Formats: sequence, structure tokens, C-alpha cells
Amino acid sequence: MNTKIYNFEANKPFSDRAKSLIPGGSHTYSKGSDQFPSDQPFIVSHGKGCKLYDMAGNEFTDFAMSLGTVTLGHAYGPILKAVEAEIYKGVNFTRPSVIEGDLAELLTQIIPSAEMVKFAKNGSDATTAAVKLSRAYTGRDYVARCKNDPFNAVHDWFIGSTIISRGVPKCVRDLTLQFEYNNIDSVKKLFDEYPNQISCFLLEPLSFIEPSNNFLQQLKDLCEKNGSVLIFDEVVSGFRFRLGGAQEFLGIKPHLTALGKAMANGFSVSALVGQRDIMKLGGIDHDQERVFLLSTTHGGETHSLAAAKATITEIMKHNIIDHFWKVGESLQKGIRQRALSDNTIDYIQIGGYGCKPSFGFVDNKGNFSWEARTYFLQESLKRGLMFPYVVPSFAHTESDINFAIDVIGECLIKIKSGFENGDLQKHISGDIVKPVFRKFN
Ligand SMILES: Cc1ncc(COP(=O)(O)O)c(C=O)c1O
Repeated sequence: MNTKIYNFEANKPFSDRAKSLIPGGSHTYSKGSDQFPSDQPFIVSHGKGCKLYDMAGNEFTDFAMSLGTVTLGHAYGPILKAVEAEIYKGVNFTRPSVIEGDLAELLTQIIPSAEMVKFAKNGSDATTAAVKLSRAYTGRDYVARCKNDPFNAVHDWFIGSTIISRGVPKCVRDLTLQFEYNNIDSVKKLFDEYPNQISCFLLEPLSFIEPSNNFLQQLKDLCEKNGSVLIFDEVVSGFRFRLGGAQEFLGIKPHLTALGKAMANGFSVSALVGQRDIMKLGGIDHDQERVFLLSTTHGGETHSLAAAKATITEIMKHNIIDHFWKVGESLQKGIRQRALSDNTIDYIQIGGYGCKPSFGFVDNKGNFSWEARTYFLQESLKRGLMFPYVVPSFAHTESDINFAIDVIGECLIKIKSGFENGDLQKHISGDIVKPVFRKFN
């Protein structure tokens, strides 16, 4: 166990500046200071591989990898080279550049349902474009999204259906319906209540729960029977479960797919891909009324597309999908074994898939505990482990995995005794971390 205890104080001026100038202090709520120990200010200086360095000079082993975008490692050489080569050719032009076609072609070869491709910068752009296109294609206004998905987009159709709906008009909120994963009756109920009115069903095909009773195929069949579009949000699962995403892993093709995060090793690229007859509505060579699909100044930014092309090439070359699964499975197995031998297994829930495992800390009644999560984050960060959630990367080695298992094992012993003695809170020095989706601060 790494017993070195870090000091975070030198980060404070940088963290205070960010908080005073940027609402929320960061550009994603899940990176905000309310998600991490409040007395450990943290501003990143740089990263290399799976190591992260803060402005206080501390080194961390990073298992979160920028919300899962950095699949190969921070500052990964071959991607930097591909980006550099492209930058010197110019980064954005008045007409399409050749790399747009190169990458679009590559995606149609590897994503099973991709017949046409449109690039953007964020996952939200892609999911929201899929919703817009479905509405145009079906001439229907309602959207059905999966209640179990924590997040699909920053846009009103999604945010209006969450607890933070402030700023979204009621008429927009009323158009988003919800169904439950693995509950085909909840899907049938929506079709019964809103006949011929639902444009699309959108969901993450695989997240933490395994599909049962052929749920996804049943959902696709019902969508086709009722004239709705099936959209897979593969912003997280794409390029992770398989190179062709969860749809390749499952053998089920949706009509439209949103891709993002893992596509370009942290560079900003996302894509809407899908069936030609739907996608082409966003084009300029049909006789129907036009659909204003994605149209973004930076959608064809060449070096980001070069990063995506190089990332996909690296994944294929080094069989990196297998590496993701091995890292996650080693963590799941190692943490379980450690917790069993320390008799702390009742305080951790281990789930998810090898390529995207999940670990949650629970109290002595088996309920998810924000206190235990806060204590764990506080103690693990103090020891140089960044493990708010886990997204395996090519950069993670056996020694990184063993380090994480050691730190988690130590923390679990303390969490157990804290719950047994009723004094866990006493060992937490700052505020308890909070969920992103809450109505008030
Ligand atoms: C499943 C899923 N879909 C869509 C998004 C939105 O992606 P972005 O933040 O790039 O807009 C996210 C972001 O976390 C996500 O996890």
C-alpha cells in the first residue's frame, strides 16, 4: 500500500480562480468540486499514460481517464503524431477535406448499422440530432428515453425530463416519455398510450444491467411494428464493448446510433451514424421537405478527425478492446478476492462488464452510501489513486491494477469499521459529495 499522503493546498489558487470564473468550476458537472472531496482542491497540470499530475506536483494513477474518452492513454504518441501531421496541413477549410471521407468510410466498415455518417463535436450533438431526425422521419413529436440512463444529452428534450428541468419549457418537457430497461411492458404501455405518436426509443444498449428476455430485440421489433425509430446511445459503449460497439457485441442493429467519447483518445469528435433512408433526409439530394440536421463549423476539423482515424487504427492494431476487458476483469476479480479475504465484501458492490466495470460502496444494510463514497475518494486521492469510476484504458498495467486493489482493500477495511462503530462521518474531513442530478445545490 502506498502510504504517501498527498497535500492538495497548492491547487487552491487555481481551483478558486476556476470556481470564480466558470459556473460550476468545470466544463462538465461530473468534473465539479461537489463530486470530489471539498478539502482537496484539484487542478490538473498534465497527464501521461494513465498518470495524472496536479498543480501541487502530486502524481495519480488515473482510472477515470477523462470520463472514458482517453482510451489509449494521456498524450499517447501515435495519436499526437497523427494530429501534428494534420495540423501542419491546415485544420479547417471552406470545402470538405479528404479526411472527412476517410473517417466516414472507416466507420461504415466497422459499425454494423452505419450506412451514412455525420460528424460533430459532442455526444449530445449526436443523440439530439438522432432525435431530431427521427421526429422528421416519422412526423411524430414524442420521444421515449430510457429511465435507467443517467445521461443522454445536454439538450432540452433530455434535461427537461430530469430533476434539473429549470429553464426548459413545459411544452418541451411534456414531449419526452420514459420506459424502463428490461421492462418490455413499459414499452408496450407507451405504444398503447401514445399510438402512432412516438418518433423514437433511445437508450444505452448496454450499461450496468445485463439485458434479459431478449429485451433489445423485442424493443427493436416493437419499434418496427409501430413505426418508431430505434436509437442506440453508444457514446460510452462505442469502441469499447467491441470495435463496432455494443451493437456488434449484441448482434442487434439499431436504426440510428450516436457515438462519441472513446472515438479519438480525448479529442473532440462525435458521430451520428445510421440507416441511409433516414440519414439522407439531412442531405441535399432528395425531393422531400428538408431537415436541418447537424451543421457545425468545427464538425470537419481535420486534426480531431485524424485523431479518431489514428485511434481506431491503434485499437485494431493492438487488439485494445481485449485489453479493456482484461483490465476490468482483473479489477473485478482482484477487488472481490481482496474483500472476501478481508471480510469486507458486504461493503462493496462489484458490477458492470469487464470493458466497463462498476464499483459502489454500500452501508451495512447494503444501500449505496454517499459517506462511504466520500471517504473512499478522500483516502484514495490522498494516496495517489483517481478512481471515482473506472474506464479501462490501454495505458493500465498490472501494477496499476494491483495498486488500485491495495488502496481499495485498505479503504474497505476502514469503511467497514466506520459503519460498525457508527463513526465513518468522523473520518471525513470535508463535505459529503453529492449526486450531479439534484434540484438544489
Ligand atoms: C451515454 C451518454 N450519452 C451522451 C453523453 C453526452 O456526451 P457529451 O458530454 O460529449 O455531450 C454522455 C456524456 O457523458 C453519455 O454518458
